[in-house]
Amino acid sequence: MTERTNVDPKSFWNAKILGWEDSRYGAAAPTLVERVAGGVSTSLRFRLEAAVTLLAPHLPGRRLVELGCGSGLLAERLMTLGAASYQGFDISDRAIARARQRLAAVPLADRMAFDVAAVGDLGPQGDALVFSLGLFDWLSSADIAHVFSIGRHGRYFHAVAELRRRSIEQLIHRAYVHFSYGRRTGYAPRYHSMAEIDGLLEQAGRPPAQVYRHARMRFGIFVTDLDRAASR
Ligand SMILES: C[S@@+](CC[C@H](N)C(=O)[O-])C[C@H]1O[C@@H](n2cnc3c(N)ncnc32)[C@H](O)[C@@H]1O
Repeated sequence: MTERTNVDPKSFWNAKILGWEDSRYGAAAPTLVERVAGGVSTSLRFRLEAAVTLLAPHLPGRRLVELGCGSGLLAERLMTLGAASYQGFDISDRAIARARQRLAAVPLADRMAFDVAAVGDLGPQGDALVFSLGLFDWLSSADIAHVFSIGRHGRYFHAVAELRRRSIEQLIHRAYVHFSYGRRTGYAPRYHSMAEIDGLLEQAGRPPAQVYRHARMRFGIFVTDLDRAASR
């Protein structure tokens, strides 16, 4: 939960997530306001593909834990690329129900699991590769530190919206969020500086992150402790 709102994140995401996925990744046309927000869908699709490319060399034999997995859009692909197992967690039971329904009959389904959980309630994840896309924007600093802590015996890979105070794109994004739901709900995504992320890693006893940036992800970045050389 963010530090600034009384909105219940579970209700918020139950109301939003399925339509959000359809509009960002599916065939549904983006609304005018989304188009004005500047190619949000394009950059999110690129982020999804970039995550697969960067994760791919690290997958064989690895236990995967995805936090804020939505309906598990990456699960089957990552398993096909050699992961040993996939566990998805999301606060939204609607997202988890869709994931279970969609992936019940695919090959390797017996090594995939989806469960409803808020990250703050999760315990240690052992040696898993813990990853997330679009989750950190919605977490408090305490929750992010918790994510780094429960994964400290494994590896991590997380998408972050990087704070860029002078970015016009980010200003437009802030305005889009404010007028489409932030003003009404008080629940809005957060941007993080690398200094903040590294500070939260330090709280969890972990060294600073490696960072991956790409113009097509706009102000989206990946932070990771995976060896970048293996991804090239
Ligand atoms: C922006 S969506 C991203 C979904 C998916 N990872 C993707 O990139 O398509 C954020 C997801 O995080 C989940 N979420 C938000 N807060 C959460 C929390 N505290 N614990 C677990 N999941 C959470 C939401 O339900 C939603 O599915």
